[in-house]
Amino acid sequence: MASRSNAVSVLAPAKVNLSLHVTGQRDDGYHLLDSLVAFAPVHDRLDISHGNTLSLTVEGPEGAGVPADMDNLVLKAAAMFADDRGAAITLTKNLPSASGIGGGSADAAAIVRGLMVFWGLAKDWDDPELADAVGQKLAALGADIPMCLLNRPARVSGIGDEIEYISPLGPIPAILINPRVEVSTPAVFRALKSKTNPPMPETLPAFKGVQDFVPWLTDQRNDLQEPALALAPEIGKVLNALEAEPDCMLARMSGSGATCFGIFPNKDSCYAATERLYTDHPDWWVAGGFLGDQFELSLPKVS
Ligand code: C5P
Repeated sequence: MASRSNAVSVLAPAKVNLSLHVTGQRDDGYHLLDSLVAFAPVHDRLDISHGNTLSLTVEGPEGAGVPADMDNLVLKAAAMFADDRGAAITLTKNLPSASGIGGGSADAAAIVRGLMVFWGLAKDWDDPELADAVGQKLAALGADIPMCLLNRPARVSGIGDEIEYISPLGPIPAILINPRVEVSTPAVFRALKSKTNPPMPETLPAFKGVQDFVPWLTDQRNDLQEPALALAPEIGKVLNALEAEPDCMLARMSGSGATCFGIFPNKDSCYAATERLYTDHPDWWVAGGFLGDQFELSLPKVS
């Protein structure tokens, strides 16, 4: 077992649903999903240092309005594993809240990764069995949290809590855009007309890069896109802006929105489009980078 550390920093990358098929609904109202998930190199950050009790400070460009009390998933997740241990946690928010890229879920997963190292309960996180055990506990706080524990591309099913890690997909050059409207996940699910839609093909092909992957992905869907568009028409403006980029291969919404992603054939075309969209829409949140490989910076940095 690892010894205690003086300080631990851990990153919580954005989760992108490249596809999201809603295949059914359980008796308790939760929906059954079949979704391909990858992580983006844009992230929140959690810094952990000594504290007698658990405490949270929230800062960063997207920190305004984010609770620093027990309403925050970070403290709820930390409390699940704390027993009588303490920690002073600073959360730097770079990801917009309630935006379909799992910001709160990624933060909850990341703080547990970080605290397990900080408290000497785990040495590192490259262990799917440990992630599975921890994920089963964290699923009680949110269906999306377990898939954020290892930041690896995965096919998720069940209500989002059954995770099958897949071979790296990428790198996939992509832009993420949020039009700065918050969308309520339950409202989007409620507005979904058909609750039983076809899953993805049972077997995922072995992809040989973005040229190979995108035609296959184009045949998949995000079933929540249509109901989210009806609730937040700004999503349509983002999809149109991405599709108007000459090199954009596919534009789609992530999760229950409102963040959308656009996939590009290479880094140069992706970065050029990122710069244009960022300049033309100063009111939007815009980030460019590569999806698909394991997010390299996800392991806690110990000092
Ligand atoms: O699990 P989480 O708290 O993230 O989900 C938020 C809400 O989204 C749930 O209360 C539920 O209304 C809806 N949801 C769903 N089916 C899922 C995941 C979430 O209906 N698989």
